[in-house]
Amino acid sequence: MDLSQVALIPQPASLIATGSSFRLTDDTHLYASGEGATAAAEFLAGSLRPVTGYVLPVIAPAAGEPGDGHITLQIQSDTELGPEGYELTISEAGVTLTAPAGAGLFYGVQTLRQLFPAQIEAGSPQSGPWEIASGTIRDMPRYGYRGAMLDVARHFFSVQDVKRYIDLLVAYKFNVLHLHLTDDQGWRIEIKSWPKLTEVGGSTEVGGGEGGFYTQEQYAEIVAYAAERHMLIVPEIDMPGHTHAALVSYPELNCDGRDLELYTGTEVGFSTFCTQKEVVYEFIDDVIGELAALTPGPYLHIGGDESHVTKMEDYIPFVERVQGIVQKHGKEVIGWDEIANAKLVPGATVQYWAVAENAAKGLAQGAKVLISPAKYTYIDMKYDSTTELGLSWAAYIEVDRGYSWDPVEQVEGITEGDILGIEAPLWAETIDEMADIEYLAFPRMPGYAEIGWSPASSKDWETYRQRLAAHGPRFEALGINYYRSPLVDWPAASSE
Ligand code: ACM
Repeated sequence: MDLSQVALIPQPASLIATGSSFRLTDDTHLYASGEGATAAAEFLAGSLRPVTGYVLPVIAPAAGEPGDGHITLQIQSDTELGPEGYELTISEAGVTLTAPAGAGLFYGVQTLRQLFPAQIEAGSPQSGPWEIASGTIRDMPRYGYRGAMLDVARHFFSVQDVKRYIDLLVAYKFNVLHLHLTDDQGWRIEIKSWPKLTEVGGSTEVGGGEGGFYTQEQYAEIVAYAAERHMLIVPEIDMPGHTHAALVSYPELNCDGRDLELYTGTEVGFSTFCTQKEVVYEFIDDVIGELAALTPGPYLHIGGDESHVTKMEDYIPFVERVQGIVQKHGKEVIGWDEIANAKLVPGATVQYWAVAENAAKGLAQGAKVLISPAKYTYIDMKYDSTTELGLSWAAYIEVDRGYSWDPVEQVEGITEGDILGIEAPLWAETIDEMADIEYLAFPRMPGYAEIGWSPASSKDWETYRQRLAAHGPRFEALGINYYRSPLVDWPAASSE
């Protein structure tokens, strides 16, 4: 077998094929040593057992000569690989996966999954043989932040849906899920000190459905589920605009204090907190405080986009003050690119989505930039004019357009070191179930995975297109409702 012919996404940093293969059998053991190795080995065994029917015990390394036919996962220092890199060596005699940290072992496991035939993803008994090509892969990411965003405010998605999205994303080595938790149409995270946010503000969604919200226990469950998969949850409270659901729940946050009706349409830019009222900052301090306590990761996203009814002279001091609240609660600020019009605190990150000049203003202040240009990375954009779901205000984003751009070419004067990473947001005005998320995310998300992980020099649409085609059967085995783009020569679907 030829390792160089296996369709890996994202493409590893380096790969040497040695022309033979390793066969997984019912006698294979997984030897795990070092912090995080057992968890990575259990993840691998957990994905292989239901399909192969093998026992695949995860145990400490055998004393002496362990014999052939086994898989070893081992923490081992290797400064060149960094916190997420790994080395995977496959021979007829066995598989050895080493990494300086548990995250690297986890990503090596994701690569291993892709080396097996597609049926490995079926989750139910399938016939083997379970053979993988031999060689060595040394691999590490281009960026430390490889993100997806899910808007759970316009339409609410269940804990189960979010977990499934996490599962699908980590298979492609994404390590951040940004949750857009609040917007005009809904407030989706329980805040114990302001209970009407969810009682009232969480009670509907776009189109007037019943909405919903995460209790703090459910939210903690999502955070923990993600952490077990080396994924960080970045929570967003969008403000001072996109706040109608909060303003309905607590009219005192509004300048004129009047009662408002819930909003289930899809307009933007009509709401604002009253930036001059002290109660607004007391409210934000409580919300950020409760959310920070639920957030083990470093980041808290303050939104800041499309505040069209907040005067600039009010917006700027608001953003400056809210950044201080985030810092007080021990977190680092991320905001949409408009926040760069304010004075940014040290360590702030500007998420470039619309206006490159705003990103440049952030750079001039020493901020990092998270690259999310709507015209390339907004996966709520339709593939083409015939796509039923999604919008088209930024562009049609077919699979080639989603893949064929580079983060370092998006903002004048930006360098690789200024870039925190990339993120592909999925706004939910037009989608309300998991199958819709899958349709817009696949097959575009693997392309963003490659942009975020693989060396820029390896990017090539023609070869990517072929690798992506080979992932069609994997999408099917995983039950993903994907868009069969006509730009990709998919193998005939098993269901067709
Ligand atoms: C945005 O799309 N309003 C950040």
